[in-house]
Amino acid sequence: MVLNAAHADTPDVHAAAAVPAARTAAPTQPIMRLDGVGVVYPNGTTALRPTDLDLADGEMTVLLGPSGAGKSTLLRSLNLLVAPTQGTVRSRDIGALSSRALVRRHRRDTAMIFQQHQLIGRLTAMHNVLTSRLGRHSSWRTMLGFSAAERRLALDCLDRVGLFEKALVRCDNLSGGQQQRVGIARALAQEPKMILADEPVASLDPTASRRVLSVLRTICKEDRIAVVVSLHQLEYAREFADRIVGLAQGAIVFDGPPPALDPPTLARIYGTPA
Ligand SMILES: Nc1ncnc2c1ncn2[C@@H]1O[C@H](COP(=O)(O)OP(=O)(O)O)[C@@H](O)[C@H]1O
Ligand SMILES: [Mg+2]
Repeated sequence: MVLNAAHADTPDVHAAAAVPAARTAAPTQPIMRLDGVGVVYPNGTTALRPTDLDLADGEMTVLLGPSGAGKSTLLRSLNLLVAPTQGTVRSRDIGALSSRALVRRHRRDTAMIFQQHQLIGRLTAMHNVLTSRLGRHSSWRTMLGFSAAERRLALDCLDRVGLFEKALVRCDNLSGGQQQRVGIARALAQEPKMILADEPVASLDPTASRRVLSVLRTICKEDRIAVVVSLHQLEYAREFADRIVGLAQGAIVFDGPPPALDPPTLARIYGTPA
């Protein structure tokens, strides 16, 4: 379906839903590949030992591990917010992310969701969602405003996270869970091929946490986007992941579906006796 600016006054909130889904053509190659990627921080901390990891479209991967295990480091190496000190990060569409220009391109296709959703409180939900479009056009275009199609896309994204009614509400008047869902809508409006979420439910109550994770899972499946979420709660990992990657002391100690995560493996991840 083509977005039609002529219908700007009567937004068809479902029109834009076809956009992300139509872009992915069921490829078999992994969307991302880490090849021997390791991270040693400048102070000498080894945060990630040399790691191989493939990610697939439409797969919800949870990076599970206690605080300090290396979840954020691994997650951030996927969009090079953390620079690996060894190994290669490859994207299926771009190849090895070996230059700043390639990294910039990769980041346009990769949305990031943080624990603190990093919204602008005094702006509406809609306006916050639209900020994700800034990477797609020049600052001059930005000053001229967003197109009708972009505004419709933003509304559609808010609708998909259950916040259509809150589009014009200032973000500082929304609950923590609603704010995190605005963060997801903003990520969606970027039309990403991959979504990285670093402890997105760390500050939410169980009901809001489940809602956020379930929205992420639905997006992952409907749009066939690769979604990688770091969590420290085993319970949520079991409930929402297709695949759990268990980390302990900067190394992957488990990689498989939730039912395969047995007590001895859990003990390796959490460092407690089974
Ligand atoms: N910028 C940094 N400089 C030095 N050490 C860091 C930095 N960020 C994280 N670390 C250390 O790297 C290890 C892994 O951290 P991190 O990836 O944040 O783990 P997690 O997200 O699982 O809590 C920890 O020992 C942490 O203290
Ligand atoms: Mg972390």
